[in-house]
Amino acid sequence: MNKPDLCVAKNREKVTINHINLDMNIKPVFNGKKYFLRTYGCQMNVHDSEEIKYYLEKLGYEYSDTLEDADIVVLNTCAIRENAKDKVFGYLGRCKHLKKIKKDLIICLCGCLTQQPSEVETIMDKHKYVDIVIGTHNLSELPKLIIEANGKQNIEVYSNSDKVFENVKYSRDSKISAWINIQLGCDKFCTYCIVPYTRGRERSRKIEEILKEVQELKKQGYMEITLLGQNVNAYGKDLNLGYDFATLLEETAKIGIPRVRFVTSHPWNFTDKMIDVIAKYPNIMPYIHLPIQSGSDEILKKMNRRYTVEEYKKLFDTIKEKVQNVSITTDIIVGFPNETEEDFKRTLDIVNYCKFDGAFTFIFSPRVGTAAALMEDKISKEEKEERLHRLNEVVNKYSLESNKKYLGKVVEVLITGPSDKGEDKVCGYTDTMKLVNVVGSKDLIGKIVKVKIADAKSFSLDGVVC
Ligand code: SAH
Ligand code: SF4
Ligand code: F3S
Repeated sequence: MNKPDLCVAKNREKVTINHINLDMNIKPVFNGKKYFLRTYGCQMNVHDSEEIKYYLEKLGYEYSDTLEDADIVVLNTCAIRENAKDKVFGYLGRCKHLKKIKKDLIICLCGCLTQQPSEVETIMDKHKYVDIVIGTHNLSELPKLIIEANGKQNIEVYSNSDKVFENVKYSRDSKISAWINIQLGCDKFCTYCIVPYTRGRERSRKIEEILKEVQELKKQGYMEITLLGQNVNAYGKDLNLGYDFATLLEETAKIGIPRVRFVTSHPWNFTDKMIDVIAKYPNIMPYIHLPIQSGSDEILKKMNRRYTVEEYKKLFDTIKEKVQNVSITTDIIVGFPNETEEDFKRTLDIVNYCKFDGAFTFIFSPRVGTAAALMEDKISKEEKEERLHRLNEVVNKYSLESNKKYLGKVVEVLITGPSDKGEDKVCGYTDTMKLVNVVGSKDLIGKIVKVKIADAKSFSLDGVVC
């Protein structure tokens, strides 16, 4: 067993990143059996689940959307906030119950929660029925661990990694829109955040490998790709090969997939060169997720975010000025340790200044092993909840305002699937990442269509094909 050790991640010295070409031969030894996979957390996990699905399907397992039918259950976990963790342990209860009836059921945990030593200890002590615990750095070992499962708990977790696997295979959820990892891990160490510990040091994939993947997806007819990293602006820095995110974005755009997106951009180190590339190519979508986290310089400093509110505003204004019709969304944390009412009001001020198209808002959740978890905090839970409520009111007001600007306009929408708003509707996204429910048939799925917007709500638009 390799138990993760958080201290290793904290004291990372710069080491060479090793790019390793995966060459796997997986035999279908579980033909006729079924898998159930549940994914928690961010796009990284969603994409990792596509890798997990590939392994399970190569082993012969068939997909099942019903837990009770499964021969293997995989929970791809998230550790970003306490409630993400609670959801996983809540669901594990259902799996435990099922295993009492189905003795051969294999239960497997992977994802960020498994990279936390305290959680691994809990699984070892209180959840002995879990068969496999695998970390984020060695997912490709999953087929081997499943084949070797023998009723005893097997834990394979590494605290850190200098490896980047290339030639990874995926069973993708969509034939229209695809995720592409460009960078793994994170070296920013924002004091509240567990990600640098769960995903390890920042490692970039080589540009030629990424572009090869983009070419392949284009050949397969993909309409949209999203370049994925915790902090895409830092892409390439660890490699020192003379290219950066702007280079990658430009080369990707030139390949000609109709829609190119990227996520997430840290406000630190967002260069003018990047903004110019985004502005220049019509197939780079005018949508940027730019987390601010707080509107108070004091709090930003305590968060180790490396920018001031003034610097954020300047960047925000430059993007708005240079990228036509751009939409900008953000993430905000309220109730960071000892956040004063004044600090919080500054957060409201920046929201009022930027009038974001949308914002994900969270109450600070202390994560074991991070610096902020050790900070003194006198603010009550009720106060934090009340601030979140006040913030959401303002945030939602601007989301609605920005959506209302679309009323009566004709926009291009990439239709991605059926809508849950009615049998006669499909849904998709504008270039600015607005969700649109469109009256129309399923034949439109996978196409970019012109839609006239007839109604605007806080979180979606309604329209008709014109
Ligand atoms: N790499 C991205 C963020 C990934 S985590 C970035 O830096 O922008 C997504 C969001 O979760 C963060 O932006 C932050 O707002 C929130 N978050 C992270 N850790 C948190 C914590 N301990 N408590 C509450 N929210 C948190
Ligand atoms: Fe977490 Fe900060 Fe890294 Fe984002 S940049 S993943 S918030 S440490
Ligand atoms: Fe993502 Fe959650 Fe891990 S947000 S990186 S799955 S902790």
